Amino acid sequence: MDQKIKIAPSLLSADFTNLKDEIAQCEEGGADLLHLDIMDGHFVPNITFGPMILEHIRKITTLPISTHLMIAKPDEYIPQFAELGSDYISFHCEAVAHIHRSLQLIRSFGKKAGVALNPLTPIEFAFEAAEFADFILLMTVNPGFGGQEFISNFFNRIDKLVNYFQKNSIYNIEIEVDGGIKIENAKTIAESGANILVSGSGIFNGNIIENLKKIKQLFM
Ligand code: DX5
Ligand code: ZN
Repeated sequence: MDQKIKIAPSLLSADFTNLKDEIAQCEEGGADLLHLDIMDGHFVPNITFGPMILEHIRKITTLPISTHLMIAKPDEYIPQFAELGSDYISFHCEAVAHIHRSLQLIRSFGKKAGVALNPLTPIEFAFEAAEFADFILLMTVNPGFGGQEFISNFFNRIDKLVNYFQKNSIYNIEIEVDGGIKIENAKTIAESGANILVSGSGIFNGNIIENLKKIKQLFM
């Protein structure tokens, strides 16, 4: 898989009193996607924001939006998040009974469908889903909060995933990685086979444009 490396700032770490300006800074720094973390206080022990915020964000940026649903009943909300302008939508395999159905639902809106796996969820779930998904989201922290430490069993997991894709000639699928990604580890993570790197605190703590440019520079 030789996919372009895409950097996706996670707005969870943005300053929401200054959101419009911080999104403009993401654009100026060269962000490829915006990552929106939707949390419901059930699937994860935190609550963020819902479709209304997506609706507003969609109006102020042309960047593609990747919506990461960390919610207990994603199927009930996927239509809304699709219609309001998400380009990529992922849900957690741990949250649904019918992974195939949820992927189909996202694709029925013409959106890229992804399944997210927590750090200790067997990677084989992604093998089975690959045929029906546009991307796999590998969590490298326990979902719920920004600013946590990267869990390094990821490298073993992505090796297995990439091997599976190669053996089965699966080329047109993207791998998104989320949690604890900073300038220091971004290159190694991308070299392991991931192509969408989400970063929250690594981009929004400090100078957003400079942080983004430094990460982008790694892949020029
Ligand atoms: C965690 C979220 C992440 C989070 C990443 O549950 O899914 O997208 O914003 O934040 P950092 O990059 O600070 O670990
Ligand atoms: Zn996320």
